[in-house]
Amino acid sequence: MSTRSLLILPGDGIGPEVMAEVRRIIDWFGETRGLAFEVEEDLVGGAAYDMHGTPLADATMAKAQEVDAVLLGAVGGPKYDDLDFSVKPERGLLRLRKEMDLFANLRPAQCFDALAEFSSLKTEVVAGLDIMIVRELTSGVYFGEPRGIIEDGNERVGINTQRYTESEIARVARSAFELARRRSNRVCSMEKANVMESGVLWRQVVQEVHDAEYPDVELSHMYADAGAMQLTRWPRQFDVIVTDNLFGDLLSDLAAMLTGSLGMLPSASLGAPMANGRPKALYEPVHGSAPDIAGEGKANPCACILSFAMALRYSFDEGAEADRLERAVESVLAKGVRTADLMNAEGRAPASTREMGDAVLAALDASV
Ligand code: IPM
Ligand code: MG
Repeated sequence: MSTRSLLILPGDGIGPEVMAEVRRIIDWFGETRGLAFEVEEDLVGGAAYDMHGTPLADATMAKAQEVDAVLLGAVGGPKYDDLDFSVKPERGLLRLRKEMDLFANLRPAQCFDALAEFSSLKTEVVAGLDIMIVRELTSGVYFGEPRGIIEDGNERVGINTQRYTESEIARVARSAFELARRRSNRVCSMEKANVMESGVLWRQVVQEVHDAEYPDVELSHMYADAGAMQLTRWPRQFDVIVTDNLFGDLLSDLAAMLTGSLGMLPSASLGAPMANGRPKALYEPVHGSAPDIAGEGKANPCACILSFAMALRYSFDEGAEADRLERAVESVLAKGVRTADLMNAEGRAPASTREMGDAVLAALDASV
């Protein structure tokens, strides 16, 4: 009997429409590859706020803790801009990350050959690009205390705290070294050890973990600002980059854009192994809810589809099936199927979200 359980949280904006395509892909794997999934769907973000007055209901949080993997679409939208911080859609996502303790956020930035022309950089700089950013996701300035806006004399002061414990740094460093061993065996760690004590500790602990447990991996250190510069200058020098929560947020957006489209990039957020040996896991596209095009059937479902491929690889140990799905997406792009985000000035009509889903399904059919 199969026990692969998924909780699907489509969320807001384009989340539901891209997730509808992923559901068809999940069904395909059940019908054609004998990989059955028990799928439950629920609300997160603004959609949950509209229904329950909170961006993540306790019952949904409890379900997320039980399943093998959570698949999330996107959260947020202008309708919720004026809400209090504590109930903003983004809080739903942050609660999932924190309570599931998803400390390692894997953000691959891979340039598909067929899309190299969409990068803002020269084709020869980005062609063949394949880097993996490992972002710490449950600590740092996102969660550090004290935080808030306080009165100090006659003016207001905004406060956030960057705080990292040794064990928080060590565990995300291990994730990066493990991944590197399965790739090109190189890790570059980024912080601001020149101005921040937390950066000094970060650098020390990453080096200690390396020397004690991963001496075979090539390790380098870079200040995060220089790292941003090097990422645009010559991104292919990197294999795995490991960095903190805030720098990882910035650097992963930068790396994403090198590849030409945010609409193509998946992510995995992983925690410690559960009783069944599978890591706690949440998969989501790197793109946001794109409220400007929501509901129009224009969104690119590939990032969400590729997030499911990451779930196959990291949660269900189905690396060959993950490869199959990634190759299907690649072949569709190679044939010139393009959603609106991937159009250049050629004047062809773009494929809709559904048509892109159809094309990926057809490529999957052709793969067996
Ligand atoms: C991301 C997003 C989130 C973050 C937001 C939506 C809270 O930018 O996943 O990169 O800042 O972590
Ligand atoms: Mg971000």
